[in-house]
Amino acid sequence: MIQLKTKEQIDGIRYSCKLLAECLYSLDDIITEGMSTLDIDKYCYDFIKKRGGIPSLLGYCGYPNTTCVSVNDTVIHGIPSKKEILKAGDIVSVDICFTVNGYVSDSTRTFEIGKVSDEVHKLNVVTHEALDLGIKAAGKKGARVQDIGQAVFRKCAIENGYGVVQDYTGHGVGLAVHEDPEVPNFVSKLMPNPRLKPGMVIAIEPMINMGTYRVKTLRDGWTVKTLDGKPACHWEHTVAITEEGAEVLTTL
Ligand code: MF3
Ligand code: CO
Repeated sequence: MIQLKTKEQIDGIRYSCKLLAECLYSLDDIITEGMSTLDIDKYCYDFIKKRGGIPSLLGYCGYPNTTCVSVNDTVIHGIPSKKEILKAGDIVSVDICFTVNGYVSDSTRTFEIGKVSDEVHKLNVVTHEALDLGIKAAGKKGARVQDIGQAVFRKCAIENGYGVVQDYTGHGVGLAVHEDPEVPNFVSKLMPNPRLKPGMVIAIEPMINMGTYRVKTLRDGWTVKTLDGKPACHWEHTVAITEEGAEVLTTL
């Protein structure tokens, strides 16, 4: 069931999203070569604790940390570790959910460490652009959920030959980490395709691989890697559907 949010609820979600955006954008000046993925997690934990919020992922379905930190061929759900040290040329996605006054925000950015190769930089730029195209599609009057997937898939798979992850999707968000509807980054006749309505709040999150779209989960039960070992990028915003279109909430 898709939950339509009231104006008051959207105001609450917007505030949670603002804090999350502040945290994620501030990482630009924090993340450097030589730091561990657990250092990033600790920074984000302290950030939200200081502001009276709750790290939503910590303990969610047994997840052990505040953030998912996914390096290079890890697509999503990388578990932060003090043994995993960032080096120049790496890409690292940081996926975070905050709960503030009961309202949940969800956003991801992929950071480049030092100078990355031209082809990896292009993958990152295209994935970010695909997120923007998905948001634009969501903002069109009368749009359906899969219009988002169509925009992302066209940009990434058809125009650039990248692998679009199918095993994971975006989702409704705001009162819980995962709500209906599913928001795939592709088109599928087998999946529901509801019309987007004012009051819906969704997380749009392209997960894009340089090579094959296929992924595997490691034995830790969380870490999702590309099957071919090539790099992957992930960008995500929480977006509210309004009478005017689509409002990105996880921004400064
Ligand atoms: N932020 C993640 C998402 O976009 C939340 C799931 S991560 C989990 O779906 F590992 F905690 F489940
Ligand atoms: Co999400």
